[in-house]
Amino acid sequence: MTAQDMHDFLRRRYRRRSVLRGAVLLGAGAAIGPVLWRQSGLTDVAPIGPRWVSFGQDPASQMWVSWSSGTASGGYPAPPAPQVRWGLDSSYGSTAQASSAQVPVPAVAGEPAENTYYNRVSLTGLAPGTTYHYSVSNDGVSWSPDRVFTTAAAGKPDFRFTAFGDEAASSARAAPMAALAASLKPAFHLVAGDLAYATPHGLRIPDVTGFQPAQWDRYLRVVGGNAAMSVPWHPAVGAHEVEPLDDNGYAGFITRFAQPYNSASGSPVVGAFSYGNVAVIRLDGNDLSAQEPINNGYTGGAQTAWLQSALEGYRAQGSGIDFIVVVCNCCCYSSNTVHGSDAGLRDVWGPLFDQYQVDLVISGHVHAYERTNPMRAFEPTMEAAPGSTVRPAADGTTYICAGGGGNGLYRTWYGSTGSGDGGSTAAPRVWQWSGGATAVGGIGKPVDVVDKVRGYSAVRRAVFCCLAIDVSAPAAAGHQTTMTIRTLMPAQTASAVTSIADPAVIDSVTLVRTAGQA
Ligand SMILES: [Fe+2]
Repeated sequence: MTAQDMHDFLRRRYRRRSVLRGAVLLGAGAAIGPVLWRQSGLTDVAPIGPRWVSFGQDPASQMWVSWSSGTASGGYPAPPAPQVRWGLDSSYGSTAQASSAQVPVPAVAGEPAENTYYNRVSLTGLAPGTTYHYSVSNDGVSWSPDRVFTTAAAGKPDFRFTAFGDEAASSARAAPMAALAASLKPAFHLVAGDLAYATPHGLRIPDVTGFQPAQWDRYLRVVGGNAAMSVPWHPAVGAHEVEPLDDNGYAGFITRFAQPYNSASGSPVVGAFSYGNVAVIRLDGNDLSAQEPINNGYTGGAQTAWLQSALEGYRAQGSGIDFIVVVCNCCCYSSNTVHGSDAGLRDVWGPLFDQYQVDLVISGHVHAYERTNPMRAFEPTMEAAPGSTVRPAADGTTYICAGGGGNGLYRTWYGSTGSGDGGSTAAPRVWQWSGGATAVGGIGKPVDVVDKVRGYSAVRRAVFCCLAIDVSAPAAAGHQTTMTIRTLMPAQTASAVTSIADPAVIDSVTLVRTAGQA
């Protein structure tokens, strides 16, 4: 989704939701009435808040720089002249004006009015594989400390990326987990949904029960300060990103997180980008989830149709893509007693993942770690113990739940684990739609039943952990390319990450492909 697409999308939403107290501003100089009354009499310039960066559609040449101004309870006016200066060193040399936006938060008893401004600018025409310095300002007078970001290398580089989901904003857990990801020096980081937990579960207007919009300020301080101001941060949505703001509840998410969005998906939060020979597709499982039905069917099947066309494109000869990684929140496969598997997604997307040989699906939602054996047609094709090599083209898709990003862990599994976690003698469960229906079909209802799919779980542990994924590029078409996934567990207690130095490797698997061949 381009900035103009986003602007148009939000304009349409706000015309339809005139009851909202706030308004969103996008584009320099844009102004919409309802915000202005909160600014009268205020002249101070808001302090510069946390910063975060993210790739544009072309990670080799485009980078978004975002930052917040003030806080929910700050009561500051819009930044008078938000801007970024950047260059190859800290003398910068280039300056760009940013746009500012607010999230239209309704009144919530006991919560501060939302006064945070989110500022962003898209830097384009950057050189590939280059580290840039940048600094931001709300007024062109006071500037933030210098920071750096790095664009994607051209061609098919070796690189690393990291991933986890389910963070929240704890200084004892989410902060060190973000710092752990940054310490691995990834090219980018994926968040598998459930970021700030500003909502206790997905909320729709007019239900604001438990809504804590200021939680986003805390989250962005935690991830911005520890990682995202230099590591491009690319989140998918979970149900906790559905806020009582607009039709689908995503106005806050897209206002806070600039990143590639593909409006052809029928969703404002779905998108894809490629880095080297890897394509990353962020999906919205809320569209299909049988367990989290708040946004069921809202794209009318458009997201799945777009997914199929995207997968077809990536698997076409000459696409330059070897590995396809999908990131979403709910788990197609989970043997944890909290939540369990979600066949709402699995039944619809699983066959597409099979058909187009999706290599890796990263999810969260279940606050623990679990990797499946490679799966095809809802069955494991082999047993992949830690250290295994998997050939996705022949063996199928590996599904990893990486929900140990900082929120409280879910410690009980179906069966026994031998890792000290709890076990249940009950049969593994799955959420699915009754009568063979899907969220798009709209008949039937979600039910929690015994799962007929068995034997999928390869490794599982209820720990805080981060995926470190190393991609080794092929020497040429026809040569081998690998994606090695290591699961890193920092020192921890039941409720805190105590050290990120020398994390233990608790699981690893290497995916192998022949480059240029689907
Ligand atoms: Fe979660």
